[in-house]
Amino acid sequence: MAKSAKAKKPRTAYVCQACGHTEARWVGKCGQCGEWNSFVEEVGAQPTCGITSVGGAQSRAEPIALDEVEVLPAEARLPTGFGEVDRVLGGGLVPGSFVLLGGEPGIGKSTLLMQVLAGITRTSAGRADVLYVSGEESVSQTAMRARRVGAGGTHVKVYAETNLERILQAARRDRPSVLAVDSIQTMHSDLLDSIPGSVGQVRECAARLLSFAKSEGVPTILVGHVTKEGSLAGPKTLEHVVDAVLQFEGEGASPYRILRAAKNRFGSTQEIGVFEMRSGGLDEVVNPSQLFLAERPMGAPGSVVVASAEGSRPILVEVQALVAPAAAGVGRRTAAGVDGNRVALLMAVLAQRAGCDMLAQDVFVNVAGGVRLTEPATDLGVACALASSYRNAPVDARTLVFGEVGLAGEVRAVNLADVRLSEAAKLGFNRCILPAQNRDRLDEDFGLELVAVRHLQAALDML
Ligand code: TYD
Ligand code: MG
Repeated sequence: MAKSAKAKKPRTAYVCQACGHTEARWVGKCGQCGEWNSFVEEVGAQPTCGITSVGGAQSRAEPIALDEVEVLPAEARLPTGFGEVDRVLGGGLVPGSFVLLGGEPGIGKSTLLMQVLAGITRTSAGRADVLYVSGEESVSQTAMRARRVGAGGTHVKVYAETNLERILQAARRDRPSVLAVDSIQTMHSDLLDSIPGSVGQVRECAARLLSFAKSEGVPTILVGHVTKEGSLAGPKTLEHVVDAVLQFEGEGASPYRILRAAKNRFGSTQEIGVFEMRSGGLDEVVNPSQLFLAERPMGAPGSVVVASAEGSRPILVEVQALVAPAAAGVGRRTAAGVDGNRVALLMAVLAQRAGCDMLAQDVFVNVAGGVRLTEPATDLGVACALASSYRNAPVDARTLVFGEVGLAGEVRAVNLADVRLSEAAKLGFNRCILPAQNRDRLDEDFGLELVAVRHLQAALDML
């Protein structure tokens, strides 16, 4: 074990994150397992990291019959004042829960957090006091932002501090209804020598905040920055410790932001919340389909509307494809908002099963509004957009397309067909191309002309 150099401090040691081997000093390569750059400073004696207990202050665990366990009533959840956030959380903020809010710098995490905190105090009618700790901005900067987004009142306290011990002291004294820490990468504990943002500090600070949240029953929200590659830098190691990981995403210059749960112990991970960043803060987008379809070009080849079902809510979005002659040999492929491998697969199926050979062409696929489609149900729409551009034949603007495409070119059934169709009917669509299996199981036609197909070729013929 490590012999600590500092006299007053508790002993810290460098622990290999791959095998657990301990050294007194930082070393580049682990002598035991041979891993490079795997040593992280940790507080030696008490293993504070890796706590996974959930559910408030029940620390003295005894085996108990399931029926005798007291569960939190739904009313115990704190509404955030934003329907979009509540839905992603699974119906509001759970007492004692530990939530990580991740996103790229500048995406709007601090803005969202401030608006949510103000919303919590507003909906609780003065019964909730919240503490917003900022390690990145001064109190006046924070107050300026709060005024800009119309968040204020005496129930939101701000504290510009990065020292974990002082933050915990303030939180124990004030006992807020919600504690928010922006961001975990700026926090540091006196117990460790390593710099803020290092894996050791991030883990230690998060573990101590977690035990505060659980023992005091105070819901705690941590902000974590995400690197360009999309992983939570440092906080990646926190994902299994926290109750929920919310990701705040947006595409390029688009003002739209999507909040999704990458993990949620208290709700579904399918739900998404849609926001628009405006000069006065974030606005909820209650009807995203309408918004995403607003700027659609009518009668342009390569544009197809697909129905994606994110959680319980369907979203109609436009997929655009452009197939153009390539300069030489093999064409370029660019996909934004859909998986590039899926596009390559659909192109191969189109070439082999539907006579659309675009393998030597440049192919670009884009999803409007900065939405990311992950569902196979959007396959048929993407394939139709590709074929439409390839043949330079527009698809009727009031036709919706959904269905999964298999390698033989067969069109397979998807879930939630009725939800997708009723959304399309609401938005004025009059025709839908869908898997035959889905049509057979429907009880009504939602006032749409339903065109059932079994094969990709049949869908292309219908368009
Ligand atoms: P911010 O919440 O600071 O992002 P993060 O905490 O994720 O780094 O948001 C920063 C961006 O949001 C900034 O570029 C300006 C923009 N913004 C608005 O457009 N409107 C607003 O009302 C606010 C507060 C910010
Ligand atoms: Mg910020």
